[in-house]
Amino acid sequence: MAGITDGKFCRDLLTYGFDMVTLGGYNADNATISAGSQILARGRSEFNVMEEKLIQHIERQALLIKDQDFWNGMVSVNLRSVTPEPIIEISKLKNVDVVEINAHCRQPEITDLGCGQALLKNPSYLENFVREVGKKARSKVSVKIRANVPGVDDLKIVKAIENADADYIHVDAMKPGFDRADYDIIKSIRNETALFIIGNNSIRDSESARKMLTCGADGISIARAAIRGTLSFDLSQI
Ligand SMILES: Cc1cc2nc3c(=O)[nH]c(=O)nc-3n(C[C@H](O)[C@H](O)[C@H](O)COP(=O)(O)O)c2cc1C
Repeated sequence: MAGITDGKFCRDLLTYGFDMVTLGGYNADNATISAGSQILARGRSEFNVMEEKLIQHIERQALLIKDQDFWNGMVSVNLRSVTPEPIIEISKLKNVDVVEINAHCRQPEITDLGCGQALLKNPSYLENFVREVGKKARSKVSVKIRANVPGVDDLKIVKAIENADADYIHVDAMKPGFDRADYDIIKSIRNETALFIIGNNSIRDSESARKMLTCGADGISIARAAIRGTLSFDLSQI
């Protein structure tokens, strides 16, 4: 989460047992940077990052995490970009283990560019985009999607991401109107793919974490509970 999940934020979470932490999301090219400024102007402060020096910023944040000798997990960077090139550049940074293509952001300034969640509306374009990143990236590649977007066939998207040889699919199993994840969509995705699934949404305790894994996710991710500082369990014990 841009402006929130910087290196210090991630570093402070390492003792909870995470084996991957995610920096960003960042806007990585001119078009998304300009969209980010517009979003910031209407009060979404998490879009306030110094993209003009993005490479140096990410290098510094990743090092803050990797400097912790007791931890040997992975640093991922969530990125919004109209073209694959900036994502490929960031994949070459020494302490970046995973670049995550953001097919999740629903801010209109981003989707108007065909970026973020708009990528879900065009599975073959998404497939080519992911393949292009994967061909040249020096890190692993993840794709973050939001489930249950109207007009989107989630399983078709999963196949596109699998065909493109991504390493991870990160699924925000959001169920509109519900305060819990859509576990059924995780089960359906599990039946469709052998990809490593990172299940996300409304994980707040060991019970919801276990449920996500029981439904077929290989790993879990946590956002709001981590921001609130209400993580009450050791992930390595799940
Ligand atoms: C303030 C805020 C900022 C976010 N920014 C991003 C982002 O930049 N990129 C992204 O992929 N997801 C972003 N998310 C979504 C979260 O990563 C996560 O998918 C969502 O909050 C559901 O998970 P949770 O129930 O654990 O919070 C953001 C969420 C919040 C609350």
